[in-house]
Amino acid sequence: MVEQLRRFLFETTQRAGTILKNRLGRVEQISTKTGEIDLVTIADRESEELIKSAIREEYPDHSILAEESGGEYPNDSEYLWVIDPLDGTTNFAHSFPVFSVSIALQREGKTILGAVYNPLYEEFFFAERSGGSFFNDRPIRVSKVKTLDQSLLVTGFSYDRRERADHYLGIFKAFMMRCHGVRRLGSAALDFCSVACGRLEGYWEENLKPWDTAAGWLILEEAGGCVTDFSGGPYSIDKKQVLATNGHIHEEVLGVFQSLFPGGIKKDGL
Ligand code: IPD
Ligand code: CA
Ligand code: CA
Repeated sequence: MVEQLRRFLFETTQRAGTILKNRLGRVEQISTKTGEIDLVTIADRESEELIKSAIREEYPDHSILAEESGGEYPNDSEYLWVIDPLDGTTNFAHSFPVFSVSIALQREGKTILGAVYNPLYEEFFFAERSGGSFFNDRPIRVSKVKTLDQSLLVTGFSYDRRERADHYLGIFKAFMMRCHGVRRLGSAALDFCSVACGRLEGYWEENLKPWDTAAGWLILEEAGGCVTDFSGGPYSIDKKQVLATNGHIHEEVLGVFQSLFPGGIKKDGL
């Protein structure tokens, strides 16, 4: 069963990735969604349609939650596919070559499988709950780096960044002063996978959506990483904050959040 699902995820993310590759640099119309900087292109929609048709054909009873078209819940299935058809739309719209396809499968609300595919680098990340994490079929583990001052981090700024710029930059500065560097790559799913395979030590972001994090979260945890909110509380895909690290630096990173927000972090920031 798992092997069949793994193959399905591999083939479906490859096919969606081919759509994205073929559309890269050829997108004529870029539309906005919730605000001026929340973009969507024909590639997001075509990739999503392909993934949904593949699921409907292979698993017609399963429910689907997809970024561009929302939820479909036939027969109240215990299985739910959570889909980000193009994670990194802003990069894609500018032909900046960092983006991915992310698909998770949940059973009774718990993610059991996750797949993230970077079509330009042909990198396929896959995890099965309690079955480990794999990068192009090889098992992966997080990095062994033990301290923040030896770490390379990544973050993202959510779509309310123009309204909360000082808040995001305050956190960015605090980490920038304490580590080797902070990257901002523009694909949350790839950010998780980069920590999972040891390229980066940690990642934080606010206001992500379930499809941004469902697959990457499992891939990172199965690779030995740690995922919480900014106070160290348990993470869930509906939470507003995610802190994802190799585990070794987690306490130290939580300490930085604690010193920035001694009373706890609030929605309206600093
Ligand atoms: C976005 C990317 C980005 C993150 C944004 C997400 P999208 O997803 O993951 O890295 O900073 O918050 O919304 O819109 O390109 O699918
Ligand atoms: Ca996304
Ligand atoms: Ca997306």
